[in-house]
Amino acid sequence: MTDLNTTIGSIELKNPILVASGTFGYGEECDEFSDVNQLGGIITKSITLHPREGNPPPRIVETASGMLNSIGLANIGVDRYISDMLPKYDELDTTVIMNIAGSSLTEYINVLEAVEAVPNSLAGYEINISCPNVGEGGMEFGVDCDLTSQLTSELRQRTDKLLVIKLSPNVTNIAAIAQSAEAAGADAVSAINTVVGMSINPATRKSNVYTKLCGLSGPAVKPVGVAAVYKISQSVSIPVIGIGGITKGEDVAEYLLAGASAVQVGTANFRDPAAGLQILTEFHDFCDKNNISDLTELIGRLQNDT
Ligand SMILES: Cc1cc2nc3c(=O)[nH]c(=O)nc-3n(C[C@H](O)[C@H](O)[C@H](O)COP(=O)(O)O)c2cc1C
Repeated sequence: MTDLNTTIGSIELKNPILVASGTFGYGEECDEFSDVNQLGGIITKSITLHPREGNPPPRIVETASGMLNSIGLANIGVDRYISDMLPKYDELDTTVIMNIAGSSLTEYINVLEAVEAVPNSLAGYEINISCPNVGEGGMEFGVDCDLTSQLTSELRQRTDKLLVIKLSPNVTNIAAIAQSAEAAGADAVSAINTVVGMSINPATRKSNVYTKLCGLSGPAVKPVGVAAVYKISQSVSIPVIGIGGITKGEDVAEYLLAGASAVQVGTANFRDPAAGLQILTEFHDFCDKNNISDLTELIGRLQNDT
Protein backbone atom coordinates (compact mmCIF):
# COMPACT_ATOMS: atom_id res chain seq x y z
CA MET A 1 0.00 0.00 0.00
CA THR A 2 1.29 3.46 -0.93
CA ASP A 3 1.73 5.99 1.85
CA LEU A 4 -0.22 8.98 0.50
CA ASN A 5 0.87 11.49 3.18
CA THR A 6 2.25 14.76 1.88
CA THR A 7 3.51 17.91 3.55
CA ILE A 8 2.76 21.55 2.76
CA GLY A 9 4.77 23.83 5.03
CA SER A 10 4.16 22.63 8.56
CA ILE A 11 0.91 20.89 7.62
CA GLU A 12 0.75 17.17 6.98
CA LEU A 13 -2.08 16.13 4.67
CA LYS A 14 -3.43 12.56 4.80
CA ASN A 15 -3.38 12.50 1.01
CA PRO A 16 -2.57 15.02 -1.75
CA ILE A 17 -6.13 15.59 -2.97
CA LEU A 18 -7.91 18.76 -1.87
CA VAL A 19 -10.99 20.45 -3.29
CA ALA A 20 -10.53 23.86 -4.90
CA SER A 21 -11.95 27.17 -3.74
CA GLY A 22 -15.34 28.14 -5.16
CA THR A 23 -16.17 24.66 -6.41
CA PHE A 24 -17.14 23.02 -3.11
CA GLY A 25 -19.13 25.78 -1.40
CA TYR A 26 -18.00 26.45 2.12
CA GLY A 27 -17.18 22.78 2.54
CA GLU A 28 -20.14 21.66 4.57
CA GLU A 29 -22.81 21.74 1.81
CA CYS A 30 -21.16 18.85 -0.02
CA ASP A 31 -20.89 16.75 3.12
CA GLU A 32 -24.13 14.89 2.39
CA PHE A 33 -22.85 13.79 -1.04
CA SER A 34 -19.26 13.08 -0.18
CA ASP A 35 -17.31 12.10 2.92
CA VAL A 36 -15.13 15.17 3.08
CA ASN A 37 -13.08 13.69 5.90
CA GLN A 38 -11.43 11.29 3.46
CA LEU A 39 -10.06 14.18 1.40
CA GLY A 40 -6.60 15.63 1.96
CA GLY A 41 -8.28 18.96 2.58
CA ILE A 42 -10.84 21.58 1.66
CA ILE A 43 -10.19 25.10 0.41
CA THR A 44 -13.25 27.19 1.15
CA LYS A 45 -14.81 29.74 -1.24
CA SER A 46 -13.11 33.14 -1.44
CA ILE A 47 -14.16 35.41 1.43
CA THR A 48 -14.06 39.20 1.27
CA LEU A 49 -14.53 41.75 4.03
CA HIS A 50 -18.17 42.45 3.17
CA PRO A 51 -20.77 40.09 1.65
CA ARG A 52 -20.87 40.16 -2.16
CA GLU A 53 -23.74 39.31 -4.50
CA GLY A 54 -21.31 38.57 -7.31
CA ASN A 55 -21.89 39.39 -10.97
CA PRO A 56 -25.32 39.43 -12.67
CA PRO A 57 -26.31 36.31 -14.68
CA PRO A 58 -25.54 34.64 -17.00
CA ARG A 59 -22.33 33.82 -15.22
CA ILE A 60 -21.59 30.24 -16.23
CA VAL A 61 -21.36 28.67 -19.68
CA GLU A 62 -20.11 25.29 -20.86
CA THR A 63 -17.27 25.07 -23.36
CA ALA A 64 -15.54 22.20 -25.13
CA SER A 65 -13.75 20.34 -22.31
CA GLY A 66 -14.41 23.00 -19.74
CA MET A 67 -16.53 25.83 -18.44
CA LEU A 68 -16.40 29.59 -18.30
CA ASN A 69 -17.44 31.34 -15.09
CA SER A 70 -17.84 34.85 -13.93
CA ILE A 71 -19.23 34.38 -10.45
CA GLY A 72 -17.55 37.57 -9.26
CA LEU A 73 -16.61 36.38 -5.77
CA ALA A 74 -20.18 36.02 -4.45
CA ASN A 75 -19.75 35.24 -0.75
CA ILE A 76 -21.16 35.76 2.73
CA GLY A 77 -18.42 38.10 4.01
CA VAL A 78 -15.98 37.49 6.84
CA ASP A 79 -18.34 38.13 9.78
CA ARG A 80 -20.77 35.38 8.76
CA TYR A 81 -17.86 33.12 7.82
CA ILE A 82 -16.63 33.45 11.39
CA SER A 83 -20.03 33.01 13.06
CA ASP A 84 -21.61 30.38 10.77
CA MET A 85 -18.77 28.44 9.17
CA LEU A 86 -15.78 28.29 11.49
CA PRO A 87 -17.62 26.29 14.21
CA LYS A 88 -18.58 23.66 11.60
CA TYR A 89 -14.95 23.15 10.64
CA ASP A 90 -14.15 22.15 14.24
CA GLU A 91 -16.23 19.00 13.59
CA LEU A 92 -14.33 17.96 10.46
CA ASP A 93 -11.45 15.52 10.43
CA THR A 94 -9.67 17.02 7.45
CA THR A 95 -7.49 20.05 6.77
CA VAL A 96 -9.52 23.20 6.13
CA ILE A 97 -7.88 26.20 4.48
CA MET A 98 -9.67 29.51 4.13
CA ASN A 99 -9.40 31.34 0.80
CA ILE A 100 -9.29 35.14 1.08
CA ALA A 101 -9.88 37.70 -1.69
CA GLY A 102 -9.77 41.48 -1.60
CA SER A 103 -9.62 44.60 -3.68
CA SER A 104 -6.98 46.35 -1.57
CA LEU A 105 -4.12 45.47 0.71
CA THR A 106 -6.19 46.67 3.66
CA GLU A 107 -9.10 44.41 2.78
CA TYR A 108 -6.93 41.27 2.71
CA ILE A 109 -5.35 42.29 6.02
CA ASN A 110 -8.69 43.05 7.67
CA VAL A 111 -10.16 39.70 6.67
CA LEU A 112 -7.14 37.76 7.91
CA GLU A 113 -6.95 39.72 11.17
CA ALA A 114 -10.66 39.16 11.85
CA VAL A 115 -10.19 35.40 11.57
CA GLU A 116 -6.92 35.38 13.51
CA ALA A 117 -8.72 37.12 16.38
CA VAL A 118 -11.03 34.16 17.06
CA PRO A 119 -10.11 30.62 18.11
CA ASN A 120 -10.57 28.26 15.17
CA SER A 121 -9.33 25.02 13.66
CA LEU A 122 -8.28 26.36 10.25
CA ALA A 123 -4.90 25.10 9.05
CA GLY A 124 -4.23 28.33 7.22
CA TYR A 125 -5.04 30.62 4.34
CA GLU A 126 -4.95 30.54 0.58
CA ILE A 127 -4.71 34.08 -0.76
CA ASN A 128 -6.54 34.62 -4.04
CA ILE A 129 -4.54 37.20 -5.97
CA SER A 130 -5.76 35.87 -9.25
CA CYS A 131 -9.52 36.23 -9.78
CA PRO A 132 -10.09 37.40 -13.36
CA ASN A 133 -13.86 37.91 -13.08
CA VAL A 134 -14.21 41.06 -11.04
CA GLY A 135 -13.03 44.58 -11.61
CA GLU A 136 -11.21 44.50 -8.30
CA GLY A 137 -10.55 40.84 -7.58
CA GLY A 138 -7.02 41.02 -6.39
CA MET A 139 -5.83 40.43 -9.94
CA GLU A 140 -3.65 43.55 -9.87
CA PHE A 141 -1.66 41.86 -7.07
CA GLY A 142 -1.34 38.63 -9.01
CA VAL A 143 0.27 40.22 -12.05
CA ASP A 144 2.80 42.33 -10.17
CA CYS A 145 5.86 40.99 -8.31
CA ASP A 146 6.16 43.99 -5.97
CA LEU A 147 2.49 43.95 -4.96
CA THR A 148 2.61 40.16 -4.46
CA SER A 149 5.64 40.61 -2.25
CA GLN A 150 4.07 43.45 -0.24
CA LEU A 151 0.79 41.59 0.30
CA THR A 152 2.52 38.33 1.27
CA SER A 153 4.82 40.08 3.69
CA GLU A 154 1.97 42.01 5.39
CA LEU A 155 -0.04 38.80 5.83
CA ARG A 156 3.03 36.82 6.96
CA GLN A 157 3.54 39.28 9.81
CA ARG A 158 -0.01 38.59 11.01
CA THR A 159 -0.21 34.81 11.04
CA ASP A 160 1.84 31.75 11.95
CA LYS A 161 -0.62 29.53 10.11
CA LEU A 162 -0.04 28.10 6.66
CA LEU A 163 0.11 30.89 4.06
CA VAL A 164 -0.48 29.83 0.45
CA ILE A 165 -0.50 32.35 -2.40
CA LYS A 166 -2.79 31.35 -5.31
CA LEU A 167 -1.35 32.40 -8.64
CA SER A 168 -2.87 33.43 -11.94
CA PRO A 169 -1.90 31.88 -15.28
CA ASN A 170 -2.76 35.20 -16.94
CA VAL A 171 0.73 36.62 -16.57
CA THR A 172 3.94 36.72 -18.60
CA ASN A 173 6.13 35.03 -15.99
CA ILE A 174 4.30 33.02 -13.32
CA ALA A 175 7.61 31.76 -11.84
CA ALA A 176 8.69 35.33 -11.05
CA ILE A 177 5.45 35.96 -9.12
CA ALA A 178 5.99 32.70 -7.21
CA GLN A 179 9.55 33.77 -6.34
CA SER A 180 8.21 37.06 -4.96
CA ALA A 181 5.72 35.19 -2.77
CA GLU A 182 8.44 32.83 -1.53
CA ALA A 183 10.88 35.64 -0.73
CA ALA A 184 8.17 37.47 1.24
CA GLY A 185 7.45 34.45 3.45
CA ALA A 186 4.78 32.33 1.77
CA ASP A 187 4.78 28.68 2.87
CA ALA A 188 3.52 27.47 -0.51
CA VAL A 189 1.99 28.62 -3.78
CA SER A 190 -0.97 27.16 -5.62
CA ALA A 191 -1.55 27.36 -9.38
CA ILE A 192 -3.57 27.87 -11.44
CA ASN A 193 -6.66 30.00 -11.08
CA THR A 194 -8.83 30.24 -14.20
CA VAL A 195 -7.54 31.28 -17.62
CA VAL A 196 -9.15 34.41 -19.11
CA GLY A 197 -11.71 33.40 -21.75
CA MET A 198 -14.76 34.62 -23.65
CA SER A 199 -17.74 33.10 -25.47
CA ILE A 200 -20.03 34.80 -28.02
CA ASN A 201 -23.36 33.66 -29.48
CA PRO A 202 -22.96 34.38 -33.23
CA ALA A 203 -26.74 34.45 -33.81
CA THR A 204 -27.43 37.17 -31.24
CA ARG A 205 -23.94 38.68 -31.49
CA LYS A 206 -23.96 38.88 -27.70
CA SER A 207 -21.58 37.54 -25.11
CA ASN A 208 -22.81 34.34 -23.47
CA VAL A 209 -21.61 35.68 -20.11
CA TYR A 210 -22.70 39.00 -18.60
CA THR A 211 -19.18 40.28 -17.89
CA LYS A 212 -17.92 39.22 -21.35
CA LEU A 213 -14.45 38.28 -20.07
CA CYS A 214 -14.54 35.36 -17.67
CA GLY A 215 -12.49 32.42 -16.40
CA LEU A 216 -11.93 29.11 -18.19
CA SER A 217 -11.53 25.95 -16.08
CA GLY A 218 -11.85 22.17 -16.47
CA PRO A 219 -9.90 19.63 -18.57
CA ALA A 220 -9.18 22.28 -21.24
CA VAL A 221 -6.79 24.07 -18.87
CA LYS A 222 -4.92 21.04 -17.50
CA PRO A 223 -1.85 21.42 -19.76
CA VAL A 224 -1.66 25.11 -18.76
CA GLY A 225 -1.76 24.11 -15.07
CA VAL A 226 0.84 21.37 -15.44
CA ALA A 227 3.19 23.74 -17.29
CA ALA A 228 2.70 26.41 -14.61
CA VAL A 229 3.51 23.93 -11.84
CA TYR A 230 6.58 22.74 -13.72
CA LYS A 231 7.89 26.28 -14.28
CA ILE A 232 7.22 27.34 -10.68
CA SER A 233 8.72 24.23 -9.09
CA GLN A 234 11.93 24.78 -11.08
CA SER A 235 12.17 28.29 -9.58
CA VAL A 236 11.18 28.02 -5.90
CA SER A 237 11.90 25.68 -2.97
CA ILE A 238 8.51 25.99 -1.26
CA PRO A 239 5.83 23.41 -2.11
CA VAL A 240 3.54 23.95 -5.10
CA ILE A 241 -0.11 22.89 -5.10
CA GLY A 242 -1.30 22.02 -8.62
CA ILE A 243 -4.76 23.03 -9.85
CA GLY A 244 -6.50 22.87 -13.21
CA GLY A 245 -8.56 20.30 -15.07
CA ILE A 246 -8.03 17.32 -12.79
CA THR A 247 -10.69 14.64 -13.38
CA LYS A 248 -8.90 11.33 -12.81
CA GLY A 249 -6.18 9.64 -10.76
CA GLU A 250 -3.55 9.83 -13.48
CA ASP A 251 -4.00 13.61 -13.65
CA VAL A 252 -2.81 13.77 -10.03
CA ALA A 253 0.30 11.76 -10.91
CA GLU A 254 0.94 14.10 -13.84
CA TYR A 255 0.86 17.18 -11.58
CA LEU A 256 3.09 15.51 -8.99
CA LEU A 257 5.65 14.55 -11.64
CA ALA A 258 5.67 18.19 -12.78
CA GLY A 259 6.60 19.18 -9.22
CA ALA A 260 3.36 19.56 -7.21
CA SER A 261 3.26 18.28 -3.63
CA ALA A 262 -0.55 18.23 -3.60
CA VAL A 263 -3.41 19.10 -5.96
CA GLN A 264 -6.86 20.64 -5.90
CA VAL A 265 -9.91 19.37 -7.77
CA GLY A 266 -12.21 22.14 -9.01
CA THR A 267 -14.67 21.98 -11.91
CA ALA A 268 -14.98 18.17 -11.64
CA ASN A 269 -16.96 18.75 -8.40
CA PHE A 270 -19.83 20.30 -10.38
CA ARG A 271 -20.30 17.05 -12.33
CA ASP A 272 -20.08 14.99 -9.14
CA PRO A 273 -19.49 16.37 -5.62
CA ALA A 274 -17.75 13.06 -4.84
CA ALA A 275 -15.24 13.55 -7.69
CA GLY A 276 -12.39 14.17 -5.25
CA LEU A 277 -12.98 10.78 -3.59
CA GLN A 278 -13.23 8.98 -6.93
CA ILE A 279 -9.96 10.62 -8.02
CA LEU A 280 -8.36 9.63 -4.70
CA THR A 281 -9.33 5.98 -5.23
CA GLU A 282 -8.01 6.03 -8.81
CA PHE A 283 -4.77 7.69 -7.72
CA HIS A 284 -4.27 5.14 -4.95
CA ASP A 285 -4.77 2.33 -7.50
CA PHE A 286 -2.29 3.99 -9.86
CA CYS A 287 0.33 4.17 -7.09
CA ASP A 288 -0.23 0.56 -6.03
CA LYS A 289 0.00 -0.71 -9.61
CA ASN A 290 3.24 1.21 -10.12
CA ASN A 291 4.75 -0.01 -6.82
CA ILE A 292 5.10 3.51 -5.45
CA SER A 293 5.78 3.35 -1.73
CA ASP A 294 5.44 7.07 -1.00
CA LEU A 295 4.87 10.31 -2.88
CA THR A 296 8.51 11.39 -2.88
CA GLU A 297 8.87 8.82 -5.66
CA LEU A 298 6.56 10.97 -7.81
CA ILE A 299 6.97 14.60 -6.76
CA GLY A 300 9.21 16.40 -9.26
CA ARG A 301 10.39 13.08 -10.75
CA LEU A 302 9.73 13.96 -14.40
CA GLN A 303 12.17 11.97 -16.56
CA ASN A 304 13.61 14.47 -19.00
CA ASP A 305 14.61 11.86 -21.56
CA THR A 306 11.02 10.80 -22.41
C1 LIG B 1 -17.53 28.32 -10.60
C2 LIG B 1 -16.13 28.55 -10.10
C3 LIG B 1 -15.93 29.37 -8.98
C4 LIG B 1 -14.63 29.62 -8.52
N1 LIG B 1 -14.46 30.40 -7.42
C5 LIG B 1 -13.20 30.62 -6.93
C6 LIG B 1 -13.02 31.37 -5.74
O1 LIG B 1 -13.97 31.82 -5.09
N2 LIG B 1 -11.74 31.58 -5.32
C7 LIG B 1 -10.64 31.06 -5.98
O2 LIG B 1 -9.50 31.26 -5.54
N3 LIG B 1 -10.80 30.30 -7.10
C8 LIG B 1 -12.06 30.07 -7.58
N4 LIG B 1 -12.22 29.30 -8.70
C9 LIG B 1 -11.04 28.73 -9.38
C10 LIG B 1 -10.78 27.28 -8.96
O3 LIG B 1 -10.52 27.19 -7.57
C11 LIG B 1 -9.61 26.66 -9.76
O4 LIG B 1 -8.43 27.40 -9.48
C12 LIG B 1 -9.84 26.66 -11.26
O5 LIG B 1 -11.20 26.43 -11.57
C13 LIG B 1 -8.98 25.63 -12.00
O6 LIG B 1 -9.24 24.31 -11.54
P1 LIG B 1 -10.30 23.29 -12.27
O7 LIG B 1 -9.96 23.28 -13.72
O8 LIG B 1 -10.11 21.98 -11.59
O9 LIG B 1 -11.66 23.87 -12.03
C14 LIG B 1 -13.51 29.03 -9.18
C15 LIG B 1 -13.73 28.20 -10.29
C16 LIG B 1 -15.00 27.96 -10.75
C17 LIG B 1 -15.19 27.04 -11.95
